[in-house]
Amino acid sequence: MTHARQHPIQVVAHRGASEEAPEHTLAAYRKAIEDGADALECDVRLTADGHLVCVHDRRVNRTSNGRGAVSALELAELAALDFGSWHHHDEAPDEAPDWEHRPEDRGDTSVLTLERLLELVADAGRRVELAVETKHPTRWAGQVEERLLLLLKRFGLDAPVSPEESAVRVMSFSARSLHRVRAASPTLPTVFLTQFVTPRMRDGRLPEGVRIAGPSIRIVRNHPAAVRRLKEAGHQVHVWTVNTAEDVHRCVDLGVDAIITNRPRAVRELLGR
Ligand code: G3P
Ligand code: CA
Repeated sequence: MTHARQHPIQVVAHRGASEEAPEHTLAAYRKAIEDGADALECDVRLTADGHLVCVHDRRVNRTSNGRGAVSALELAELAALDFGSWHHHDEAPDEAPDWEHRPEDRGDTSVLTLERLLELVADAGRRVELAVETKHPTRWAGQVEERLLLLLKRFGLDAPVSPEESAVRVMSFSARSLHRVRAASPTLPTVFLTQFVTPRMRDGRLPEGVRIAGPSIRIVRNHPAAVRRLKEAGHQVHVWTVNTAEDVHRCVDLGVDAIITNRPRAVRELLGR
């Protein structure tokens, strides 16, 4: 059975509407939902006390006012940090975007847990899908996937009737991580992320059991034949991170299924939606 998408291209907000608000904050995800994103992308890492939080880097240094590795900090320590102020440090006050004036968002600049993001999606008032990327899952020997599936279960999202019906997909650069997810939940769709074209990809093949390819935009630019081959083989193709009109048009021409972008509203407009 193939997993070719029959719908229009999905617009996926990369770390939220992360061009307009600090990545992985509630403000960024609320903005993405307001802007009509079909799905939200987030990276997840385990804290020292076993909570899944949405943070891209191994350390919190770039995106907060704290220092140290996520894996060495407990949730309470992360919650005391400010993940929201760094994004617009250099802007003049009159250029500040709307979200900075919304008290409910300014109060939510501590670390975002995956649980809170799932609540936001559940309360969105329309279907909003979630693309969860497991970061450095090998370090934790299965614990990231285990915690992820437990959390999804609490929201009734761990065992969709079919991959096509699923509101959640799991992405990773690690085929082993995706294998763990499928072993526990065979109908949860998985996305194999890659920034290099492998010989297997040139033949339209993905790791065993994976239905969706997640190539970087560089692959789309430099190896469009590999993308075509993946599509011909019946795979979906979800491309990251697509922020320019030129790249959006490249993706449209190749018939990709999802565009992962920091600018969901702009991409929707380019797609005529
Ligand atoms: O959506 C996939 C993309 O997010 C992978 O790269 O570094 O932004 O997590 P990165
Ligand atoms: Ca990511």
